[in-house]
Amino acid sequence: MTQPTFLRDDEPALPTRLIDAGRRVDTRIATVNTPVSRASSVLFDSLAQTEAAGKAVAVGERHATTYATVGTQTTFALMDALAEIEGGGVPCRAALMPSGLAAITTALLAFLSPGDHMLVSDSVYGPMRVFCEGMLARLGVTAEYFDPAAGDEIAALVRPTTRVIYLESPGSYTFEIQDVPAICAMARARGIVTMIDNAWGSPVFARPFDWGVDVSILPLTKYWSGHADVLMGAVVIREALWPKLWGTVRQLGLCVGGDDAFLILRGLRTADVRMRRHEASASTVARWLESRSEVARVLHPALPSHPQHERWRRDFRGSSGLFAFELRGPMDDGPQRAALAALCEGRRHFHIGYSWGGFESLIMPARLTGLRRTPWQGGALIRLHIGLEDPRDLITDLEAGFDAMLAVTG
Ligand SMILES: Cc1ncc(COP(=O)(O)O)c(C=O)c1O
Repeated sequence: MTQPTFLRDDEPALPTRLIDAGRRVDTRIATVNTPVSRASSVLFDSLAQTEAAGKAVAVGERHATTYATVGTQTTFALMDALAEIEGGGVPCRAALMPSGLAAITTALLAFLSPGDHMLVSDSVYGPMRVFCEGMLARLGVTAEYFDPAAGDEIAALVRPTTRVIYLESPGSYTFEIQDVPAICAMARARGIVTMIDNAWGSPVFARPFDWGVDVSILPLTKYWSGHADVLMGAVVIREALWPKLWGTVRQLGLCVGGDDAFLILRGLRTADVRMRRHEASASTVARWLESRSEVARVLHPALPSHPQHERWRRDFRGSSGLFAFELRGPMDDGPQRAALAALCEGRRHFHIGYSWGGFESLIMPARLTGLRRTPWQGGALIRLHIGLEDPRDLITDLEAGFDAMLAVTG
């Protein structure tokens, strides 16, 4: 190959220099935020170092890595932050997953084997139930659902093969609150692992490890991101149970990229202020809805009218922006469907969309056909996520929705 004339003979050729140039900058320059690490290969100075890192990764040592699927500066920073904040003083570790649903399924796969039995709160997030009735059933695991307002009386459902009790409190469509501390105490006495989906409370308002849970599942897509621009989940787990989870995470090859981890780190810095605004605005809108003649009831744990309000007061430090309300009248398909469309469609601030926890308000009629133990008896249920807009504008928007609904129903 001919060297370009402007290169000295003792220098590497341009293709080589393109690979090499600019890679010797000191990466320890202090900045406010952990830099984004975009990586696949992780480099070592020696074979001995490679071997030592491999052993450390195999036992799940903190910050040990051999490859970016295991971890980088950015993902380790997020894992540490989540373990510390969600753990709230209880020694915990955190694993990152590409979505909240992946966090749920991975946690279950880590602790369940063929022949096992699991107790599940009836009002769990729908795709969790699909996983139980699909892949877990195929693997020989039996899921049994219990009343989502239950406490430790579910001990009566425990079998010798019960390995996991899965909680979601409040349920994210129907908002029942379980007596989580009582259930966890009952489970611990029997050696059963307890898991909770802590999407609604978030670490700002809920401390699941104080309640005694073993595993907290954080759909980071929701409030931790807070900006509707990133998908991620985490499993935060008591230190003693970490090896079992970590083995599963490694075998399944689950990991997240540095850019997304950075976005979650950025979101969590403002989580406390955002959550308090979601809380205040949601309770303003919820109280206004209680005064509307079209509304049969509002399902919001912070309202004194909520059936488990006292439990919420005992266990939570606040409430988030997600709640639902039930419309008066029968839930039949024809006229009710047109009324729902009039209420939800064409709103100025409430958009129709799944997920929640971002800065924006959302509206969505609930589909409650999945409930097994506690079939839905009421009227049409609408779920709202109250974003960071001024609540007066949101109320005006809902008022216009009720007017449009009335124009249809007469
Ligand atoms: C209560 C709850 N848990 C888990 C998830 C799953 O999170 P992701 O959307 O990141 O998969 C959702 C999503 O809507 C949810 O509402």
